[in-house]
Amino acid sequence: MARTIIAANWKMNKTIGQAVEFARGLKNALLQKPVEATVVIAPPFTSIGALSAELKNSTVCLAAQNMNPAAAGAYTGEISGEMILDAGCRYCIIGHSERRRLYGEDDAIINAKVIAALNYGLLPILCIGETLEEREAGTTLAILTRQLKEGLNNVSADDIQKIVIAYEPVWAIGTGKTATPGQAQEIHLFIRNLLSAMYGEKEAGGISIIYGGSVTAANISSLMAEREINGALVGSASLDLASFLAIINFDGQGL
Ligand code: PGA
Repeated sequence: MARTIIAANWKMNKTIGQAVEFARGLKNALLQKPVEATVVIAPPFTSIGALSAELKNSTVCLAAQNMNPAAAGAYTGEISGEMILDAGCRYCIIGHSERRRLYGEDDAIINAKVIAALNYGLLPILCIGETLEEREAGTTLAILTRQLKEGLNNVSADDIQKIVIAYEPVWAIGTGKTATPGQAQEIHLFIRNLLSAMYGEKEAGGISIIYGGSVTAANISSLMAEREINGALVGSASLDLASFLAIINFDGQGL
């Protein structure tokens, strides 16, 4: 059974002080009312250390938004998997569409990052998703197949359980246009079937496939009601604490 994971992708937002204030509020809210989902925050690199200290003894996990696949060396401006782990991260977002589009990351480099992350004991959140042009051209499934197969190249059946797949249609990111729950479910099922063909049905069933793209407190429940949607990667709506708390309490039950 796949775990439910709700991850906040803060992108290039929040100073250290703002990040710590949010984390304190989140930690206290979870102490009062724990939630069933695994809650992950991906802050900018500058806030990871301070959040790691603030969230010690809390159930909230930290993720980096990116990493360099090399172990160390002359890579000005880059951060390694070892550094991320050392700073307190358990997860690393890899292959976000903004990295693919703005920084020219291709499937080969993304795969190198996935392998390096696994080698360090980090849990990769591998992002895949089609652009609007690709969707309109009818190539969505081919694009997702390529991104998934190449992104997971050389990932063993043992390691696949450590990976979270985030389906983020690029046309839904930061646009206010969410995929309908039905559209998302259809693609998640396609991804699950592809993972089944690659790793076996049992293994595929345990992999969390989360949805991202304009997720808000208003649409999270209907997305989560779909069978193959195991959580969400939330951008804009994760920046405000009340909004993020409403999202992680999507079932209205807590524990
Ligand atoms: P959004 O971003 O929720 O602002 O659309 C999601 C993401 O890019 O991970």
